[in-house]
Amino acid sequence: MKVEPNNPFLVRKQRHVLLKFALFLLFIALSFHIFLSVSSKLISSSPLQIRAHSPQNDTRAECDIFVGEWVADPAGPSYTNESCHVIEAHQNCVRNGRPDTGYLYWRWSPKDCELPKFDPRKFLNLMRNKSWAFVGDSIQRNHVQSLVCTLSQVEEAVEIYHDEEYRSKKWSFPSHNFTLSVIWDPFLTKAVIFEDINGISSSDVQLHLNKLGEEWTSQYKDLDYVVIAGGKWFLKTAIYYENDTVIGCHNCLVKNLTDLGFEYAYRKVINRVFDFVTGSNHKAFVFFRTTTPDHFENGEWFSGGQCNRTVPFKGGEVDMKDVDVAMRKIELEEFGKVGGSGKDQSLKLLDTTQLSLLRPDGHPGPYRQFHPFADGNKKVQTDCLHWCLPGPIDSWNDLLMQLLVQM
Ligand SMILES: *[C@@H]1O[C@H](CO)[C@@H](O)[C@H](O)[C@H]1NC(C)=O
Ligand SMILES: *[C@@H]1O[C@H](CO)[C@@H](O)[C@H](O)[C@H]1NC(C)=O
Ligand SMILES: *[C@@H]1O[C@H](CO)[C@@H](O)[C@H](O)[C@H]1NC(C)=O
Ligand SMILES: *[C@@H]1O[C@H](CO)[C@@H](O)[C@H](O)[C@H]1NC(C)=O
Ligand SMILES: *[C@@H]1O[C@H](CO)[C@@H](O)[C@H](O)[C@H]1NC(C)=O
Ligand SMILES: *[C@@H]1O[C@H](CO)[C@@H](O)[C@H](O)[C@H]1NC(C)=O
Ligand SMILES: *[C@@H]1O[C@H](CO)[C@@H](O)[C@H](O)[C@H]1NC(C)=O
Repeated sequence: MKVEPNNPFLVRKQRHVLLKFALFLLFIALSFHIFLSVSSKLISSSPLQIRAHSPQNDTRAECDIFVGEWVADPAGPSYTNESCHVIEAHQNCVRNGRPDTGYLYWRWSPKDCELPKFDPRKFLNLMRNKSWAFVGDSIQRNHVQSLVCTLSQVEEAVEIYHDEEYRSKKWSFPSHNFTLSVIWDPFLTKAVIFEDINGISSSDVQLHLNKLGEEWTSQYKDLDYVVIAGGKWFLKTAIYYENDTVIGCHNCLVKNLTDLGFEYAYRKVINRVFDFVTGSNHKAFVFFRTTTPDHFENGEWFSGGQCNRTVPFKGGEVDMKDVDVAMRKIELEEFGKVGGSGKDQSLKLLDTTQLSLLRPDGHPGPYRQFHPFADGNKKVQTDCLHWCLPGPIDSWNDLLMQLLVQM
């Protein structure tokens, strides 16, 4: 996001929106907290359909699986709210009474090749004796739940760990000796977050830009596969540190520190993450997932914004929001420096931004609550950021599988 120095209104407006957005994230975190206190393919030698060449055409151009369109899929999702037991209440749209079901019947179709559906049996066989983790924020949790739901059709996952807030979790698939975890580290870097017992921030976040988060780096050596993602937490007001010295901030209007913008911190941290991964003696396969867009329309989360569309967009029908453009630009540029040219085959981009942008119909909206309109037309909070389960995020696993095949 470009901040134009000669347009103070623009700067202030953006700050305002970002601040509100940060509050929304906090709100989501908070409601998760409250919810808890209240309720206590492939592989090997199979013919890979990832090449764009046809039998008569020997150019063997690689197919970009992230470019394509959503096409009708009568088969629908492979699991339901009945068969899967790990769907978070706020993303359990069918159970929560979402009336339309059309959003469940689409699959991602790359422009130049076929994308096979995720095959849980093949995946689990491939993962024998392996360990896999998702690192990041609540969207990563969203994603891991999709994966667990799919895999549980073959073998029921056994939860073997959760932290106090149920933010980090680990599951075992005993007969495959496979462990799958989600590691809560929303900034990926050392962050001092001041929260009272209700999860309300009492002071600005302190972000240490050159000390990666211990939560995930300490476990890295034990992992074979890692999906890492940054994201919207970087929009929060924060004080930036380097070598334990304050170097600036983001959004800290009352203090006379240099406002470096969230882009500064995001770039630094992504850069450090890639350095860590490519420089580590431990060789894991790492997927970096790009930013995930929200679809609040006609307002933001706090001002009546909604996502009540029921079909996907066609390409070109929608523009990405500034924040996502800025984040994705940083992600692609930093990735290009280390992994883009195939220098490091163990680091791949899981570039879900564009295809997710086309799915305004895949969010819980008001159905983050159980039957939100049951008591008449009371005001309900919408969620147009996380994804319904089942929902479009399931296709991220189809893509992961393809990347695995290519490794
Ligand atoms: C080979 O396939 C590519 C991609 O579909 C296409 O652009 C190209 O024209 C084809 N070449 C020939 C000789 O058919
Ligand atoms: C699944 O959703 C349906 C439809 O809302 C509901 O009737 C059913 O009780 C749900 N099942 C579970 C286990 O929550
Ligand atoms: C998994 O580990 C067991 C015990 O070490 C070994 O016998 C088996 O061959 C391994 N399987 C794979 C696929 O590596
Ligand atoms: C499970 O996998 C781990 C890590 O590869 C291996 O050390 C262990 O021997 C395996 N256990 C069994 C029972 O296969
Ligand atoms: C922090 O320390 C590193 C390594 O000593 C150095 O390269 C960097 O310039 C320092 N940053 C600041 C802001 O002092
Ligand atoms: C903040 O502002 C005060 C008063 O304007 C000034 O004395 C102080 O040096 C400033 N601090 C920094 C870190 O710029
Ligand atoms: C969707 O929301 C907009 C306002 O954001 C409203 O004008 C429209 O009527 C809604 N459509 C449906 C089908 O509810």
